[in-house]
Amino acid sequence: MIQSKDLLGIKELSPEEIYHILDTASGFRDVLSRDIKKVPPLRGKTVVNLFFEPSTRTRISFELAAKRLSADVINFSVATSSVTKGETLKDTALTIKALGADFLVIRHSSAGVPHFLSRLLDVSIINAGDGSNEHPTQALLDLFTVLSSKKKIKGLVVAIIGDISHSRVARSCIYGFTKLGAHVRLICPPTLMPPDITNLGIEVFHNMEEGLKKADVIMTLRLQLERQSKGFLPSLEEYFYLYGLTQERMKLAKDDVIVMHPGPMNRGVEIESDVADGPHSVILDQVTNGLAVRMAVLYLLAGVKK
Ligand code: CP
Repeated sequence: MIQSKDLLGIKELSPEEIYHILDTASGFRDVLSRDIKKVPPLRGKTVVNLFFEPSTRTRISFELAAKRLSADVINFSVATSSVTKGETLKDTALTIKALGADFLVIRHSSAGVPHFLSRLLDVSIINAGDGSNEHPTQALLDLFTVLSSKKKIKGLVVAIIGDISHSRVARSCIYGFTKLGAHVRLICPPTLMPPDITNLGIEVFHNMEEGLKKADVIMTLRLQLERQSKGFLPSLEEYFYLYGLTQERMKLAKDDVIVMHPGPMNRGVEIESDVADGPHSVILDQVTNGLAVRMAVLYLLAGVKK
């Protein structure tokens, strides 16, 4: 059972709630393999996508997930909205609520915005990424992808490489994988390691060769250059030399390792093209699974009493 009307982060979910979402997503993945992919549970409901930051995967898959569940969908475009005339986030949200929204899917550059909206409105708020804090549906689709591939999560060695400091995906995945019993290793330059994270039951490596040894899952992250001030890295070339995921380095992991990336990828910066497109890559499976997972989240939140 999902307890909250909102999905704000993985931090707030119990392992039982996570597995319930993943089980529900599994049912929707079967629905998506049928000729007729549309089902009625959200008929008469309205989902508003409110994205203050760019997105390809998350925004499109939330739109498609809502449509597959028969909801009406509004994609709010900040660039052509009254936000450009100075309207506040609070007034924008209250306006959308007054127009009858049932779900607000929010992405914002500031951490905590979904939590603010959750207190303000009695509609379901879904965090689609808040600053460097959390991106819960990305972690859920990552867990789903690993579970589909490996048939378990408990006991797996999951190596997460890159810009841990600025990555909401890393934070949500650390919560998710550790709650379900995986061994999480973080591999990053010392300058991209946040100080508050070592108490979450993870291991930290600053050397790729050590961190990748016998890994079951490798997740490499985009450098969040838009969130970094200068001085974290000498150059992108040096970053690739020290932390780029190459075919050579892949040999250190288990033979059946899977390679993940939340996207968007910077080929030649965090990952070699031959690895991104190679036989171990499940990067496009992650995208496909995101649709089933977001259907599950919308479906389950619709059943929670507001
Ligand atoms: N993974 C992810 O959030 O991608 P988008 O920014 O394209 O939504």
